[in-house]
Amino acid sequence: MPVTRHIHTTSRVAIANIIVTVALLAASALASATIAHPVPAALLLAFAAISELISVPLSKGRLSGCFGAVLVIAWMSGPLAGAIAAILVTLIDAVKHRSDLARAAVNTTGLALAATAAGAMSTIAVKNGVGLDDGWFAVVCFGSYLVAICLEFWWVYSFDLGDGVDRLTKMTREVLLPLMPQFACMACVTAAVPLLYAQLGALALLLVFIVLLSFQSLVRELLISRRRAERLDESVREIAEREAAFEKLSFGALRALVQSINLRDRMTARHSGAVAKYAREIARELGCSEQDLELVHMAGLLHDVGKLIFDDAILTGTQRLTDEQFEIVKRHPGVGAELVRGMPGYEQVSDIIRHHHERIDGRGYPDGLAGDDIPLLSRCISVADTYDVMTARDSYRKPVPRAEAIAELRRVSGAQLDGTVVEAFVDVLARTDLSFDHASSTDFARQLEMQPSRTRAAA
Ligand SMILES: [Fe+2]
Ligand SMILES: [Fe+2]
Repeated sequence: MPVTRHIHTTSRVAIANIIVTVALLAASALASATIAHPVPAALLLAFAAISELISVPLSKGRLSGCFGAVLVIAWMSGPLAGAIAAILVTLIDAVKHRSDLARAAVNTTGLALAATAAGAMSTIAVKNGVGLDDGWFAVVCFGSYLVAICLEFWWVYSFDLGDGVDRLTKMTREVLLPLMPQFACMACVTAAVPLLYAQLGALALLLVFIVLLSFQSLVRELLISRRRAERLDESVREIAEREAAFEKLSFGALRALVQSINLRDRMTARHSGAVAKYAREIARELGCSEQDLELVHMAGLLHDVGKLIFDDAILTGTQRLTDEQFEIVKRHPGVGAELVRGMPGYEQVSDIIRHHHERIDGRGYPDGLAGDDIPLLSRCISVADTYDVMTARDSYRKPVPRAEAIAELRRVSGAQLDGTVVEAFVDVLARTDLSFDHASSTDFARQLEMQPSRTRAAA
């Protein structure tokens, strides 16, 4: 709808509603200009205003006692008082919600129409000799409450829709009718108020309003804190989802890093796959958690990533390394650790990589850590690393048989390697046919496919 046409339409709606409201006021004044029971009417108006100010939006409608209070004013003090009360409380609502003129006018007319109808019905009852303390008056109030709620609903929704009676029928069926049992309960409670006033006076009415407003205020606070908690839950969930997505991205980047080692030096890449596989089984044998298994697997895949800084003479050469070259080689755990540390959530993987060439006797590198100061998962990598270097069929060195490799692991236990970790690996090898095929890409690809569920450290 073009903007100018929309403005014209809303202006017409506002003017039409204002005219109807004025007509309702005039008709009510002509019928009876007097306002009976002014004290309870004033109390009820104050209650309606406060209730409207502290009203809380609910999934269907909102929690406010203003509709009931306006109707009681209409029942007890006549349609004119009801219409005036309706105008005042809907003005409060319009100011509170900064409603536009058309919306405010429709709401005002809807409530004024409901109040005038309710007031007219009770006036007829009074003129027929039914007093406030008469049970029949409560029956009339009950019936007029339901009539009033329907009138207000239809009036407000007929201006809300703009696309015909079919939609209004649908809204009646899907919104109004399902709420009728609740409205009937509200009608019962509200219809008892004139009776209460007739029996106990204005003070009792005041006490009831105080209780109702306190209850409304309590419910309001409860709802507000529940919504805050829901919003907080939502934020926590969003953060967790973002972290998971980021970790997935990080894992993809790290996997690409391993692939790049593969392109540069296939032997080192497959060695990394083998170390990841062995180290994971060693850690499992030692009773490590699933998270630790994932950490050590990732660290195994990346433990030699720092070798990317080597030139080809060091990386793939077969000559004995010079002292200078060996100093460069000793930098690879630190370089690899720094490379991985840049990935948020992979700090522990970085630490494991940094210490995979430490020795249990403290003579390793880069930090010369000894014994339990070396992270357990780094010790697992060391054992897996040493074993794979000895047994790999793809190695430039002649591979040694499994039994000889185990004997060598035991020989260096307590000096280079952690004896407990070595024995755990020996147990795994004795019990299983754990091996890694360096000659084909299948085993390597399988290690790369093992995406961690959550490599990020729990700490
Ligand atoms: Fe290494
Ligand atoms: Fe290695």
